Amino acid sequence: MITGENRMQSPATANGQVKAAAPRRIADPCVLVIFGASGDLTARKLIPALANLTRDKLLPQEFAVVGFARSDYTDETIRKRLDQEAEKFGVDIERDAWKQILQRVYYVCGALDDAGAYRSLTAKINDVAKKHGAGGNRLYYLAVAPRLFGEIVGQLGAAGLASEDSGRWRRVIVEKPFGHDLPSARALDAEIKQVLNEPQIYRIDHYLGKETVQNLVVFRFGNSIFEPLWNRQYIDHVQITAAETIGVEHRGGYYETAGALRDMIPSHLFQLMALTAMESPARLDADAMRDEEVKVLHAVHALAPEHASDTTVRGQYGAGTLAGRHLPGYRSESGVDPQSRTETYAALKLMIDNWRWAGTPFYLRTGKRLARRSTEIAIVFKQPPFQLFRDTSLRRFSPNELVLNIQPDEGISLRFGAKVPGAGMRQEAVKMEFCYNDYFDASVATGYERLLHDCMIGDQTLFRRADMVEAAWRIIMPLLDSQQEPSRPAQYVAGSWGPREADELMRRDGRYWRNFDS
Ligand code: BG6
Repeated sequence: MITGENRMQSPATANGQVKAAAPRRIADPCVLVIFGASGDLTARKLIPALANLTRDKLLPQEFAVVGFARSDYTDETIRKRLDQEAEKFGVDIERDAWKQILQRVYYVCGALDDAGAYRSLTAKINDVAKKHGAGGNRLYYLAVAPRLFGEIVGQLGAAGLASEDSGRWRRVIVEKPFGHDLPSARALDAEIKQVLNEPQIYRIDHYLGKETVQNLVVFRFGNSIFEPLWNRQYIDHVQITAAETIGVEHRGGYYETAGALRDMIPSHLFQLMALTAMESPARLDADAMRDEEVKVLHAVHALAPEHASDTTVRGQYGAGTLAGRHLPGYRSESGVDPQSRTETYAALKLMIDNWRWAGTPFYLRTGKRLARRSTEIAIVFKQPPFQLFRDTSLRRFSPNELVLNIQPDEGISLRFGAKVPGAGMRQEAVKMEFCYNDYFDASVATGYERLLHDCMIGDQTLFRRADMVEAAWRIIMPLLDSQQEPSRPAQYVAGSWGPREADELMRRDGRYWRNFDS
């Protein structure tokens, strides 16, 4: 490309591509019970992920799924529905694997708080386990509204479905959000720990299922050239963005109680920040990794509610246009209060008080109905210490930027200045780029394959420990406290890059949000 963005060509491998799949062991035999099985997550992600694990020969024959929800389905009709939904959402799945997995799906209809329904569930699980030779291992997936987490775990305990004995494991995957704030997260933890031990609890953050997020660890600690620069001495600041073009869709009711701050920041964005900022773990095991991640969260400088406006911006989208389509404002979405003060955008400036990062801010932003879908981590380097070119027209270079693109264009790019050929001294920013798709022949995946498989082999590395959840809530608690009487968030037009106030937050520090087209 001759636009000043020079693309480095990937060195070709023998067949032009590298196989992505690493050898992994087949999961343990088990019955997976999905609570809330009639919801979108099951049809769009979980069952397709199981089909992909079947395709990749990572699921044993001795495996079955029991769906449990209030909606009135039978084994036959739930299979039909899953098939229709997969078709409707255009989920890309290998046909044979899909058929194999559908034949192993069963269903129990019942209320999640009815002890009688758990007796029917137990009978069904036992039948299905016998039929498929799945033995005594059980994995429970709570794909339900967060207010039901405690209830379901309590019922599992009372029905004897959670106790591990005779070498059988019982594990529970808990969706986010885990609590609504620090006190409720602690209360929920205490409630479920009456039934379960920490090694049985898998708090899921689906960002950790993304290859590019997992790659952060390999990128940082599997290479020697980046780590020496990865600190306050060379890095001016870090920007982490999770921008979405979608609005609240049919989740207005939930979103009204959450808002962008609760929905995205303590989970996905802090996870990205922790992986970017942490020290190398001594070993690649669940606790060593998570110990380092949680240290980052503990080192975040406490936010002062009285200074919230210097470090935080909350925004809400009004009507606008995106790709030629007129979009309603947030207050006109279904399930949303027409006077709502819930934020659909949040930007945050955080400082990490440790030797590696003191003085290097981390700016985080996330929002709905923004101009483009993009999740990325941008490491923005400092200017050179001595300006050799001060007497030429090259007085100030664009900063070097290393950008880790999490989605949708998975890859890594490095921007640096180069001399424009010809007489005189002119520079232009050019880019070296690595795109996942150019190198790896990765099979289609939903992002849940790795996470489900890890639970079935008992690996908690990619799941959040209780102390991580608490540390994350603790960081944003001052902001939640200062929102007891929230003012109306700053307004932005749907399809834009968020409120002006977020640009101000950066401008005050002499910085600017990364331009997505550069
Ligand atoms: C979920 C949030 O956890 O993540 C949603 O509740 C958000 O509001 C979603 O849309 C974003 O996930 P992804 O994988 O599309 O970036």
